Amino acid sequence: MDARVNRPVPPPVRPIGVRIAGTGSCLPAKVLTNADLEKVMDTSNDWIVQRTGIRTRHITDRQAGESVKDLAVAALRAALSDAGLTAKDLDLILMATMTPEMECPASACIVSQMVGAGHAGAMDLNAACSGFVFGMNIAHDLIRGGTYRTIGLIGADTLSRLMDYSNAGRSTAIIFGDGAGAAILRATDDTSKGILAQSMHADGEGWKDIYVPHTDHDFPAGTPPDRSKCGYVQMNGSSVFKFAVGTFPDLIQETLDKAGLKASDVDMFVCHQSNQRILHAARDRFGLPEDKLYINIDRVGNTVGASVPLCLDELRKSGRIRDGHLVMFVAFGGGLTWGSSLWRV
Ligand code: UT7
Repeated sequence: MDARVNRPVPPPVRPIGVRIAGTGSCLPAKVLTNADLEKVMDTSNDWIVQRTGIRTRHITDRQAGESVKDLAVAALRAALSDAGLTAKDLDLILMATMTPEMECPASACIVSQMVGAGHAGAMDLNAACSGFVFGMNIAHDLIRGGTYRTIGLIGADTLSRLMDYSNAGRSTAIIFGDGAGAAILRATDDTSKGILAQSMHADGEGWKDIYVPHTDHDFPAGTPPDRSKCGYVQMNGSSVFKFAVGTFPDLIQETLDKAGLKASDVDMFVCHQSNQRILHAARDRFGLPEDKLYINIDRVGNTVGASVPLCLDELRKSGRIRDGHLVMFVAFGGGLTWGSSLWRV
């Protein structure tokens, strides 16, 4: 018998839109200024501002027990409140982080317990700085597939705990800050809302450009193992910089092409805040006016998985991202990974 003949006929697929129902964010209270860094390492405010655009970053108070879960919970609660929902409305919590509380359980499970999300699914995803954008694509498609209705997506990182605040770590410690941002993605009957084009890429050859060694075996071939570097981010800054300057514009163009749009059609570009010079280069390449590519790196530094949702929350709260806008999210980072998500919000 032809199995195809007896295959059950699937119900007609009802188109489902996906909207960003709420956003929230949290920065630790403790501020680390360039002047603070000048006191502990051989650097200067001028060098940091000129090379990165960063003036301050926020870091968790580890002695007081503050950690990534606290930032993530505050961001998620704020996003739920913004959406007019409670944790019980969530079907799934996804947390993009490369600095989880522990190896097990997933930080998303701890966050779920703290916010009271009951038996909603919960898991972490690690794509370094690209994590939140990858998470947007995954959560969106889970909702559009019809199985999940409401997903809490968090991007949270505390890179300060992987920084060597001495001369040996000065090229990385000046960049990174801590933070968390969250968005509630929700099914809607308005099918105009959701992702128009997306991408997720990785090049594992580039893992050596950003990694955190813990044992001698973690150092790439050709790099002598050095125990003093274990537990700290090792970054080939200039290599990542070159990769980013080339990749960002290509990623934007690739996403526009998929959607059949021009850069001038997009109302706002929300880009991972890695280095102000990388953001300016992307803006110049597309001839974008200053107010169309958001920059907050001067205040918060590079917050890794929190970078994109922090921008998103600030832009929504200030009314610069509004209902119906076309918004492109782009990020790149460790892995190496890079990805995009173009939304009609
Ligand atoms: O989030 C995704 C992943 N990360 C990134 O996107 C980071 C991308 N890379 C960068 O942002 C830049 O490469 C950095 C900001 C990390 C470094 O800037 P750079 O212009 O690439 O500097 P460099 O590493 O090429 O170093 C230039 C000089 C060196 O001195 P010499 O060898 O020329 O004498 C460094 O030792 O600057 C020196 N240097 C510093 N000087 C003062 C490095 N760090 C510092 C510092 N203060 N903090």
